[in-house]
Amino acid sequence: MKKGIQVAIDGPASAGKSTVAKLVAKRFNYVYCDTGAMYRVVTLAALDQGIAVTDSTQVSQLAREIKISFAPGEPEQRVFLNGRDVTTAIRQGRIDQNVSAVAAIPAVREEMTNQQRQIAEEGGIVMDGRDIGSTVLPNAPVKIFMVATAHERARRRYVENKAKGIATASLEELQKEIELRDQKDSSRKVSPLVQAPDAVRLDTTSLTIDEVVDRISTIIEKTLNELA
Ligand code: CDP
Ligand code: CDP
Repeated sequence: MKKGIQVAIDGPASAGKSTVAKLVAKRFNYVYCDTGAMYRVVTLAALDQGIAVTDSTQVSQLAREIKISFAPGEPEQRVFLNGRDVTTAIRQGRIDQNVSAVAAIPAVREEMTNQQRQIAEEGGIVMDGRDIGSTVLPNAPVKIFMVATAHERARRRYVENKAKGIATASLEELQKEIELRDQKDSSRKVSPLVQAPDAVRLDTTSLTIDEVVDRISTIIEKTLNELA
């Protein structure tokens, strides 16, 4: 069987990365890895243990000690912290508000990056995040940088929270929170959110999920043909 390739999908909060990445992975029978969930798990572990997210020494140690794992699930992949299912817990507002601080700690990024490279080693993977194309998998043959207006991204997150029964801030507050997180993620020193020079930019503001999945699938097919 032909070995699968690495597909990197990056972009700002709520651009549709994980929804689309999961569907693309399904279409090609690839593994899906949500790297944002990994930073969220470290944040949850720190908050649960009463460790300040600004305490880089303690948070880094925690990131190395905990076990983060994934299991397939419908409608969403399950995420575990030391074997405990934290899929819903990592989507709370307190995690949204603290995750960028945790993700800015260089030693935390180093640990997560190493784990992500191991997961992607065999190929046949769709990995989404902020620095996958730029840092984690710089040689990935397919790199997508997915964007949408902040207003549309806040609207999507609002609708999603309501549908999942997650307590949600107002649309205006969500947009502010998303813009603040984008700004923090884009301005940090280590592996900021940035489009890799060889990534394809995809504006999903007025595209449906299926349209985005189709566009990325076409790029993957073309790349697979070129590599064959
Ligand atoms: O789903 P959403 O776009 O809200 O965020 P996420 O993908 O779950 O990522 C949560 C946070 O983790 C981001 O705001 C970043 O601070 C951090 N992150 C990162 O620094 N690098 C990655 N590769 C993925 C996420
Ligand atoms: O992973 P990321 O934070 O980039 O976004 P997501 O969690 O995949 O998508 C946020 C929400 O936008 C989800 O509820 C998706 O169903 C929705 N979405 C959409 O309405 N239209 C798209 N083209 C992509 C995502």
